[in-house]
Amino acid sequence: MSLGGKRLRPVLTLIGHYLFADSFEKSLPAAMAIEVFHNFTLVHDDIMDAAPLRRGKPTVHSIYGLNAGILSGDVMLIRAYQYLLELGDKQLVPEILGIFSRTAVEVCEGQQMDMDFETQQSVQIADYLKMIELKTSVLIAAALQMGARLGGSSQEDASLLNDFGRNMGIAFQLQDDILDAFGDPQKVGKKPGGDVAQRKKTFLYLKAIEMAEPTQKERLKTWFAPHTEMDDENVRRILSLWEDLGVREEAEAVKQIYQRSALRALDEVNAPESRKEVLYRLAEVLFGRES
Ligand code: IPE
Ligand code: IPE
Ligand code: MG
Ligand code: MG
Ligand code: MG
Repeated sequence: MSLGGKRLRPVLTLIGHYLFADSFEKSLPAAMAIEVFHNFTLVHDDIMDAAPLRRGKPTVHSIYGLNAGILSGDVMLIRAYQYLLELGDKQLVPEILGIFSRTAVEVCEGQQMDMDFETQQSVQIADYLKMIELKTSVLIAAALQMGARLGGSSQEDASLLNDFGRNMGIAFQLQDDILDAFGDPQKVGKKPGGDVAQRKKTFLYLKAIEMAEPTQKERLKTWFAPHTEMDDENVRRILSLWEDLGVREEAEAVKQIYQRSALRALDEVNAPESRKEVLYRLAEVLFGRES
């Protein structure tokens, strides 16, 4: 965890709290729980995605082995619950545990869909959007919602912030998929083209199939087929065809739709404008992120 990362989710918990009360330090245990849980999902995700690099360094399982990766991930999940026990406002603990646990189950469901899609022939864009909502955006939404409730928000405002986080989270994962294919590896800190190498059915893949001419479509399907060796050369030619088709621009356009929905939900949150400003600024930075 000392490698850092953006620490987006815990910051959202603290901002969620700060929107409704000065004492955002009271949400620190929840913020810790969320970040440790997120890092647990990354350790296990890197096993599932056979990823060699994370945050510019070798992944846990590639250094310490598969079993240590599984077990240290398990311990981090348990540590997340131990942090939640440290929350001062005991009355809110059952509600916070409820949000957290429901979200954790959804993340696992999203991860299962992500892997099922690797070998599933027919995946629709709507399926992909549901998958990323589960694997990524529900945690971002819950991070905000938990902070808001701990800060004394109404259920209505917490739910609007959940909406904001959900839409922002979908945009966030679309950007993650764009960066995986087209980002600067130095900044992203992951192996470039990792999603293609794993035959992930991301928006970029699905849109490419939709936009391709019959011959290009045949080629794409063959290059993605299980019997085709996924060497660097194969990844390179797939990415180059995507580039020609302009799928990146298509993904950016869909990302914008979710960004706008996110901002609409935030507009409706009943909190001081001067405090909401922090969240507007953070959202803007995230929409253009390169890492
Ligand atoms: C990576 O999350 C996993 C996704 C859900 C896309 P981040 O991009 O927030 O990773 P770190 O924590 O900053 O490294
Ligand atoms: C990961 O999605 C989502 C979770 C860890 C739950 P990705 O597999 O795209 O994340 P990265 O790109 O490895 O960070
Ligand atoms: Mg991954
Ligand atoms: Mg993954
Ligand atoms: Mg990714």
